[in-house]
Amino acid sequence: MELFDVYPLYDLTPVSASGCYITDEKGTEYLDLYGGHAVISVGHSHPHYIQRISDQLKKIGFYSNSVQNPMQVELAKKLGELSGYGDYSLFLCNSGAEANENALKLASFLTGKKRIVAFDKSFHGRTSAAVAVTDNPKIVAPINDVHDRVILPLNDVNALQNALSTGEVAAVLVEGIQGIGGCRVPEPAFLQAASRLCKESGALFILDEIQSGYGRSGKFFAHQYAGIRPDVISVAKGMGNGFPVGGVLIAPEHQPWHGMLGTTFGGNYLACAASLAVLEIMEQQQLVENAAKVGGFLLDELASFPKLKEVRGMGLMIGLEFEEPVVVLRKRLLFEEKIFTGVTGTHVIRILPPLTLSMAEATRFLETFYRVSKNM
Ligand SMILES: Cc1ncc(COP(=O)(O)O)c(C=O)c1O
Repeated sequence: MELFDVYPLYDLTPVSASGCYITDEKGTEYLDLYGGHAVISVGHSHPHYIQRISDQLKKIGFYSNSVQNPMQVELAKKLGELSGYGDYSLFLCNSGAEANENALKLASFLTGKKRIVAFDKSFHGRTSAAVAVTDNPKIVAPINDVHDRVILPLNDVNALQNALSTGEVAAVLVEGIQGIGGCRVPEPAFLQAASRLCKESGALFILDEIQSGYGRSGKFFAHQYAGIRPDVISVAKGMGNGFPVGGVLIAPEHQPWHGMLGTTFGGNYLACAASLAVLEIMEQQQLVENAAKVGGFLLDELASFPKLKEVRGMGLMIGLEFEEPVVVLRKRLLFEEKIFTGVTGTHVIRILPPLTLSMAEATRFLETFYRVSKNM
């Protein structure tokens, strides 16, 4: 059997990893500023992470969600403490798309409505409702194209007000910082207005923090810069540092009933062990603060780089837009300079490193990037 060929692959085979570095089968080490697509939060192969998952595996790896699992309770408590959402409830699942799918289903159940408002350049995953509200028709199959959705320009308060004035909207869904959209940051005033308008119209306000959450922005959640408290927050990626886990944080006024949501694998012991290890390391190593410090340094320095058209983002979620295509630049960074970066579309390089990135590693990137991009 061959693999179903859906991914364009780089000629790179990582076989081991540590901290902010991955190593290929020839022993070549790469500085990882892509973090496996914003997934690696506490660094590769962190000893505490390995220990906690290994210890758990020796006890019990899986049982169904029909029995008591104190690790889920411990995880919810710790996540509440560190994120500032101690009064919210947590539903655990396995991926980002699933987190959004459940968030949208929840909004539909609670409001009795179907319409979802999302924004241009959004990406929310590939399951049915999540992909329907993703602004990329190429990945929306006919079977997904059945949802009642409206895609509006980001930051356009009037357009949102009009959409909500129909009274037919179940939820407004926005990324804390757009990922695939190239690190576009919603304006704080827009998020504040959206939060207020949702409350007035009875729609739920859902923040997709799958990429921008878990400390990447320099706050636990990117929307916390705007001082809002959404109805629902979806998380995944950095939550498990590579272990597949996702979650939905739900405001206290929204009540569940038995059978409302469910999953076989969500919240299993290994996922909880991985997620708890992540939070413990984040707290102990002050990684949110590190993301703010090192990310702030990168953003300040990059602002004066000559070839850049725009620098966007917050913390360690940075989009670097060029006038020219970046394909050659990214390849040179990867194969000549051994620095792995992300990309969005044809003109944007994305920096999504582990939150453990040091000032020295950031400086190495800046010096290399300046030299290579200058000669583009
Ligand atoms: C903002 C956002 N939402 C949702 C998803 C989907 O997550 P997953 O690939 O885990 O389903 C992604 C993945 O890139 C994302 O960046």
